[in-house]
Parts: sequence; structure tokens; C-alpha cells
Amino acid sequence: MSRLFVLLTTLLAILSASLAFPNDVDLLKRQEVEDPSSSADGTFGVLNPPPPPGPPKFTGTKLVHDRAHPWRPPRDGDERGPCPGMNTLASHGYISRDGVASPSEMITAVQEAFNMENKFAIFVTYLAHLLNGNIASDLLSIGGKTRKTGPDPPPPAHAGGFNVHGTFEGDAGMTRADAFFGDNHSFNQTLFDKLVELSNRYGDGFYNLTVAGELRSQVLQDSIATNPEFSFKNVRYFTAYSESVFPVNFFVDGRRTEKKLDMDSARSFFKDMKFPPDFYRSAVPIADQGLSEIYAMHPFLPGGNVDGKVNNFAVDPASADFTKPCALYEDILNTVKRLYPNPAGLLRRNLIKCLHDFHPGVAAVLGRDCVEQFPYGKK
Ligand code: HEM
Repeated sequence: MSRLFVLLTTLLAILSASLAFPNDVDLLKRQEVEDPSSSADGTFGVLNPPPPPGPPKFTGTKLVHDRAHPWRPPRDGDERGPCPGMNTLASHGYISRDGVASPSEMITAVQEAFNMENKFAIFVTYLAHLLNGNIASDLLSIGGKTRKTGPDPPPPAHAGGFNVHGTFEGDAGMTRADAFFGDNHSFNQTLFDKLVELSNRYGDGFYNLTVAGELRSQVLQDSIATNPEFSFKNVRYFTAYSESVFPVNFFVDGRRTEKKLDMDSARSFFKDMKFPPDFYRSAVPIADQGLSEIYAMHPFLPGGNVDGKVNNFAVDPASADFTKPCALYEDILNTVKRLYPNPAGLLRRNLIKCLHDFHPGVAAVLGRDCVEQFPYGKK
């Protein structure tokens, strides 16, 4: 990962998890968080949430669309959201089929079913949990807000799930529309058609890194031209480039040597939230490899449209970018402090633990030893 950032730094300088979760454990946890004696002042929740799982022993390819994980359509009340990876894991029972899980369960699942590299999985999952999860109950929704994550923490914290715009979820997605247009989380056929069109034009009918670079650039230009509130900085800047390489790294069958995704498989993941038949996970633990290649195709600095006008993009020099990755860590901490200005009791203890568990992921993913911060103390 550090090599990646060295690469990107140079560039910018020049330019200027088969585990079905035991439902009874899940149920117990839900009962605990929904205990009527609990209250929203920070005293409810799960005591001592577990540390994030380490890497699994076996990290080769294997069949993951197996008998233990049959696909089932979401039922009424099940949460699904903007992440085709997590949606697929829920629909196959790698996390609870209702789309609500703990960070540890999510990390185990992405490792098991997609062979996501351990530190990367920790970074992404804890990031989502810190911004969108219920820190007291240790539960996070992969879609919208739900009472299944337990009583709300005191505002402005929201525990709203992946769908909350401007936290993790952001503009210029590949198959999800910008929040400005109303629905930021559902599969969007028009956008998917564009992915298919570019895969035909640049990838001979497959989504590969060249297509990823072209599509990333085009969706950015489309958002600049149509969304007066377009914003693309800090967390969103990093996640968007990562997510553009995910289909190549995670959705291509692990037995294939060529890293290119056919359109039936793409539709299966993005639209149907389903593994293709007989799907094998990646042959090696993998993260956002390929990011520097797609960035280099059409380098783009963080910023957004200003003054509520389309075609009015301005670079935001205060935003984190690939040359200053620790600024991303700072930005995340500032958002957490805004969400939890004055946490008390168990909520505060869990926050301290969560931030500490997040940090090994920060160092590994950002490629820098960003100095660990303790906004709520160490104990
Ligand atoms: C490790 C925990 C993960 C978390 C917390 C997470 C969360 C999210 C969130 C919140 C988004 C919406 C961001 C946005 O585009 O606005 C997203 C998008 C996406 N995720 Fe995940 N994700 C995770 C793992 C994965 C995995 C394992 C895959 C692939 C197997 C994946 C594939 C994608 C893709 C392709 C998108 C972009 C969708 C699009 O732009 O149309 N994610 N993810």
C-alpha cells in the first residue's frame, strides 16, 4: 500500500468472509441492545465489543457460492444499500440476511467470501462504523436507518447506516445516483448502461482497469455538469477511486488469470446482489490494487461545484488527497468528534476502543504512520 502512495505522491507532485452467522448469537445481541431498561444517554449497549478479526489461515481461492450460502431475495424490512459487495454478502447469509451486523462480522465475511486483505477490511469497516454505525450496540446497517441497530446514540450521532449521504456514501458512484437526484443507494439502470457501454468501448465487453479509469472520469464529469451540489473530497475522494477497482479485484472469479469482469457477472453483483453461479473468491488477499493506474489515466483533484451551480467546479486545497493521506485520518477524526462531541459512559468507552481498533488499518492503508490520536482519552 505504501508503494501505491509513493507512486501517487510522485504523480501529483508532477501535476501540481463460509461463515453463516449463528443467528442465536445475533438474536442475543439484538435482545441486549433492545433491552427496554436501556436508555439513549450512552448507558445502553454492548460491553467490550471484540477486537477486529485477524487474517484467516487459508487465503487461497475457493468456492464461495456454496450450499451453505444459498442466495435468497431480501425480505420486507431487510436492509440493502449502496454497496454491491455487502448487499451480496447479506443475500447469501455471509452476514445476517437482514443487513445489520457488527464490524467484526463484516470483516470476517469480506475476508471469507471475497478474500479482502485484513488491514484493508479493518480500515473500511471501522470507517463505516465510526461514521454510520451504532457505537454503543456495535451494530451497523448496510442500508438505511433501522431499529435493529438499537436505541439511537445522542444526536448529532445518527447511526443511520451506509445510506447516509456525505459520510461514507458520496457523489459520483458508478451505479448509484448522486443524493441530489433523490436516491443515492438503489441500483440505477441508466448508470449501469453506461458501465456496459464503456466496457464495450474500452474493454471488449469486459470491465477492466482501463474501463475503470474511463468510467471514473466520465461519472465525475457528469456530476460536475448536472449536480449543483456535487462534492468529491476527503473520505469520498479516497473511497470512489478504491471502489472503481473493486469490481476488477473482487468480482472476477478467482480461477481466472485475466482480471476482467464479464457483464453477466457485473449485473449479478451490482443489480441482483448475487454471486454468479459457481463463484470462486480472489486467489490472493486483495485490496485496492490498481488504484494508481486508474488515477493516472485522468488525474483529478478533490473539490466540488461551488455557489450551488453546475459546471462550477473548484479544487478544495484543504481536502486530503493522495499526497497527504494523514489529512484523511484528521478529517475522519474531525467528523467523529462532530458526531460525538461529548460521549458518556459505555458509548465513550466503545468509541475509544473503536478508534484504537481502527488505527492499524489507517497505518496499513494510508501507507503512513499517521500519529494515533486519542480525542476521548485512552481508557
Ligand atoms: C469491508 C467493508 C465494506 C464497507 C463498509 C463498504 C461500504 C460501502 C459503501 C458505504 C459504499 C457506498 C459508497 C458510494 O459509492 O457512495 C460502497 C460502495 C461500493 N462497494 Fe463497498 N463496502 C465494503 C466492502 C466491499 C467489498 C468487499 C466489495 C466488493 C466485493 C465492495 C464493493 C463496492 C463497490 C463496487 C462500490 C461502488 C458502487 C457504485 O459506485 O456503484 N465493497 N461500499
